[in-house]
Amino acid sequence: IHIVADAAEGAEVVADVFARTLQEAGDSGAVLGLATGSSPVPAYTELIRRHREEGLSFAGSRAFLLDEYVGLPADHEQSYHRFIRENFTAHIDIDDAAVLSPDGATSDPVAEAASYDRRIREAGGVDLQILGIGSNGHIAFNEPGSSLASRTRVVGLTRSTIEDNARYFSSPSEVPVRALSQGLGTILEARRIVLTASGAGKAAAVAQLAEGAISARWPATALQMHPDVVVVVDEAAASRL
Ligand code: GLP
Repeated sequence: IHIVADAAEGAEVVADVFARTLQEAGDSGAVLGLATGSSPVPAYTELIRRHREEGLSFAGSRAFLLDEYVGLPADHEQSYHRFIRENFTAHIDIDDAAVLSPDGATSDPVAEAASYDRRIREAGGVDLQILGIGSNGHIAFNEPGSSLASRTRVVGLTRSTIEDNARYFSSPSEVPVRALSQGLGTILEARRIVLTASGAGKAAAVAQLAEGAISARWPATALQMHPDVVVVVDEAAASRL
């Protein structure tokens, strides 16, 4: 657990974990697990800077997004497909076709979930997964009550998540109520995980993640079972540790 002074220092720590993973993967590139939300954005900005100014290369790498809203087409302003391109992958040397996310516009979300989970395994699994955390302890869209062994599936969003995410939409009623999300079991198969959080609103979830009993009530506690997790939090998010 790294407790950092500000977003810039946190972004450095997270970017170092990416750089180490890319270096270990070598010329064939790494399989990156990417997350949306505001938490990872400073790290993405730092990685873009290192790509432009220091030649950090993502050539050959592939990426799998954690989740997507059901019902939003890929080009929707609030789709995660679009978010990750605008905030990260369009600005680095990763092949756009190698950046995959669940298809939120599919007519068969159940089949899409199973096929997405399979595609991750067929790619050899994720080398490095970056995560944010919801104020209720969710990771990806695994809300409280999610099985710790869950796979990619269709999930319902809780009222608190809909309210948290409403800031991106013109009204809470426009926030989709379902999502396709990698499961906790899927996420735990990533070989390395880095989770980043900031602000007092995340303090309870961070305290549970690090010190709570492993329980589906706080989905992020599942990470305690993983052997290689780096947590990067600011003072406010760390205030209940
Ligand atoms: C959404 C995403 C999560 C993310 C969470 C926190 O619900 N599905 O992957 O971790 O929001 O978002 P933020 O980082 O904006 O606080």
